[in-house]
Parts: sequence; C-alpha cells; structure tokens
Amino acid sequence: MPLPKSHKLLALLAFCSALSYGGVLAAEPSKANRSAVDGVKPAYGQHITEADLAQWNIDIRTKDGAGLPSGSSTIAQGKNVYEAKCASCHGEKAAGGAMFGTMVGGIGSFTTNTRVLTPGSMYPYAPALFDYVRRAMPLLEPQSLSNDEVYGVSGYILHLNGLIPADAVVNAKLLSDLKMPNRDGFIVDDRPDVKAVRCMKNCAVLR
Ligand code: HEC
Repeated sequence: MPLPKSHKLLALLAFCSALSYGGVLAAEPSKANRSAVDGVKPAYGQHITEADLAQWNIDIRTKDGAGLPSGSSTIAQGKNVYEAKCASCHGEKAAGGAMFGTMVGGIGSFTTNTRVLTPGSMYPYAPALFDYVRRAMPLLEPQSLSNDEVYGVSGYILHLNGLIPADAVVNAKLLSDLKMPNRDGFIVDDRPDVKAVRCMKNCAVLR
C-alpha cells in the first residue's frame, strides 16, 4: 500500500539526517580522540635509515668501479652458477640460446658494418657487466644472486670473451683494473645541453 505524501516526506527527512549525522560523526573526533590527534605533529613517514637505504643503493660508477661490493669468485665457480641459472636462456658457453644471442665475441666489430654486440665487444668498463647482472639477471629472478655469484658469472663471461685467464680471481679490483677493448670506442656527447651548469638563482634564461 503506497504511503501518504506526508509520510514519504518524513521518511526522506529521516534518511537525510541519518546521513548527515553519520558524516558529522566521522569528521569530528570525540574529545578524547582529538587530544590524541593534537599531540601528533603532521608527518610524512619515518626517517629512512642507512640500513634501509643500503638495499637500494646498489649503483656502481662503472668508470672506476666505485661502489663495487666486497666479495670474490673463481671462474670455475662462475661457470657453475652460469650453467645453473643462465644457460637456459643464453646457451652453453654464452654462445646464444633460447632467449638471447651470443654474449661472446665480436671484439673489434664495432668499426665494421656488421657489429656484433656482446659484453666483450661493447661494454667500455667491466664493472658495467657486474652492475647489469646484479640488477637485472636472471631475467625472471633479478637480484637473487649473491655478490660472489655475480662476480663469478661476470668473470666467466669475461673469460669466455678471452679478456681474463681461467685462473683469475674475480673481485672489485680485477673488474676496475681491466681495460675493455671498446673503452675508447665511444664519442663524447657534444650537444650543448649536456654541458648545462647547475644553477639555483639568477639563472640564465634558456632560449
Ligand atoms: C629467462 C631467461 C634469462 C635468464 C635465465 C638469464 N637471462 Fe640474461 N638476458 C635475457 C634477456 C631476454 C636479455 C635481454 C634483455 C634486454 O635487452 O632488455 C638478457 C640480457 C643479458 C645480458 C646483457 C647482454 C648484452 O649484450 O648487453 C647479460 C650480461 C646477461 N643477460 C647475463 C645473464 C646472466 C649472468 C644470467 C644468469 C645469472 C642470465 N643472464 C640469465 C634472458 C635471460
């Protein structure tokens, strides 16, 4: 049976006031709550600790290896890691596999029309190989390797490229000191914007 007009209006009013009352309750903390809120200053979170930061702070200055961690490995250990965790995609002896072409050879090919891009032929600095592998490989489990394991596989790839001997101890010093074949194969970017000087006040207006 339909409600008379006046009853409909009453029902609507009751509904609205329930809504707005609910709104007021939510917006206004009780006295007890308010004093608790007043005691806390606005803040955006906690100060980050050095320990928190350390897990993120993994960049390496590839030119001289600054930031490379301690640790070391042999080529033989690196070969074992490679075979267990890399060969499925990169193939035996890094000669190319299901997911990627060769990571060996091509040295000197950058001055020809048939460049073969491998860590051996292209990377100007060996620490870049460590940095890349630590950050990004194995493809499906990045950052799952220990630093020793990353030294090992990096050394193994460099060894396959004929750049270090089979009995090398692979560590920060070896990678920093190694002169890669393509070190001088890059040209300096001479566009004007790469020379911009940091400026905080009275800065020249760029046109
Ligand atoms: C699931 C497949 C897969 C696995 C496992 C894997 N990779 Fe890779 N890897 C790739 C792919 C795909 C690329 C190319 C990525 C890109 O170009 O963004 C690559 C790229 C690389 C490169 C760069 C090569 C270059 O020419 O610059 C290196 C070095 C490398 N992987 C090393 C490793 C090592 C070491 C392992 C084992 C710890 C590993 N990868 C495991 C798929 C894989």
